[in-house]
Amino acid sequence: MKYFIAANWKMNKTIGETRDFLKSFIPMVKELRDVDIVVAPPFTALSAAAEEMKGSNVLLSSQDVFWEEKGAYTGEVAPAMLVDAGCRHVIVGHSERRQYFHEDDQVVNKKIKAVLKAGLGVIFCCGESLEEREGGKTFDVIRREVEQGLAGVDPDNLVVAYEPIWAIGTGKTATVDQAQEVHAFIRNVLSGLYGSRAGEIRILYGGSVTPENVDSLMACKDVNGALVGGASLKPESFVKIVSFKKES
Ligand code: PGA
Repeated sequence: MKYFIAANWKMNKTIGETRDFLKSFIPMVKELRDVDIVVAPPFTALSAAAEEMKGSNVLLSSQDVFWEEKGAYTGEVAPAMLVDAGCRHVIVGHSERRQYFHEDDQVVNKKIKAVLKAGLGVIFCCGESLEEREGGKTFDVIRREVEQGLAGVDPDNLVVAYEPIWAIGTGKTATVDQAQEVHAFIRNVLSGLYGSRAGEIRILYGGSVTPENVDSLMACKDVNGALVGGASLKPESFVKIVSFKKES
């Protein structure tokens, strides 16, 4: 399975900073063929990023979307507009959207369906909080998010990202064993939904991924890539992450 590594820039970088990053990053990764490399800038920088990425092996993603096709939804962006801006993927269900913008599993499900209908790929995020982990609820939360978020969703064009909320932006990475345990569990839930097709769905790990810990995380059997926030903001650091060494 081809690895999939995506940069989630969150609310960082102007248009100029996006162009500067890509002008330096793209030449450094042009020989990498065994990994899908994806960058998700803020909405305002998408078109400029698409111009910089033209003819390269780096693909564009947005960080969010609205599920309606058009109309009176002030401030929102439709899937077809993201296609128009040059996107190939959309991140849906990130814990920051769930926490700060009150997106629940039903909203996430509607967004995923709209994204796939527009012909875009989905990077669907799930993950438990520290309180849920300490309360022994990790597997219940993950099962609920995956089953409800993906209800009625076709798995073509679907990538799942496991992001334990306690590991996002905190410098506390899940251990290799913690990551593998939940990834295997997600694979199992996906098998319940999709049967043998679950084996083809890439499951990314996200939460304080760095050049230092990426090799060991990518060596886990059910970890097929990464979703990277903080360590994706500098070209040199993100280059090291997408060029991880496969440990055998
Ligand atoms: P982080 O963010 O790498 O800064 O922890 C990951 C994410 O939220 O996607």
